[in-house]
Amino acid sequence: MTIPAEKLTVAMPKGRIFEEALQLIREAGYRVPAEWAEDSRKLTVEVPEENLSFLMVKPVDVPTYVEHGVADLGVVGKDVLLEEDRDIYELLDLTISPCRMSVAGTPDRETVLNPKVATKYPRIADRYFREQGQQVEVVHLNGSVELAPLIGLADRIVDIVSTGRTLKENGLVELEEIARITSRLIANRASYRLKSAPIHRFYERLAHVVNEKGGSK
Ligand code: PRP
Repeated sequence: MTIPAEKLTVAMPKGRIFEEALQLIREAGYRVPAEWAEDSRKLTVEVPEENLSFLMVKPVDVPTYVEHGVADLGVVGKDVLLEEDRDIYELLDLTISPCRMSVAGTPDRETVLNPKVATKYPRIADRYFREQGQQVEVVHLNGSVELAPLIGLADRIVDIVSTGRTLKENGLVELEEIARITSRLIANRASYRLKSAPIHRFYERLAHVVNEKGGSK
């Protein structure tokens, strides 16, 4: 009798990381459905022949699914991990979707005593300015952060810069880099022990692709 391999559930981030993450999984040799694309409305994708099941979730929610154990693994940006500080294992830097977390503002801004900083990442911003010994007031927004300095809601922003296009198109400049960001493979702590064999296989196959890509750069 053959013992069925343990099934793994992977939380995948909808949005900008998705295509690159899926591509990596395909390159690692997993035969995921050819018709699976980011614009599909399906929130679960079963791949029984690979013993895999995928959940399509908002990027900021990936650590929640993994921490609660409804997903064994997840793919998520380091920005989310730095902001959330969840009880999960970070297994692998997938090196995909590179960008940076930066402070930005208008080029002609004046120096103010306690500047207002608009951001989707209040903890990262708070921690960064505290480490710099600078007092700021953090204004928490959920998107379109670049608007804040243009309409007087904030003096500066802390946000992700990828191509730099959003800053440029809104007349903002990057002032300081806080952190380099890439996507990571994360694991639930209990799954890591209880499903160690399939998790290690998944990890090894992805790590192999990441190393090959790193070597060919
Ligand atoms: C992110 C980020 C910036 C933009 C940076 O926003 O918050 O606004 O992308 O990318 P760029 O440097 O390539 O222009 P996202 O597209 O996730 O939308 P949001 O502002 O609605 O969160």
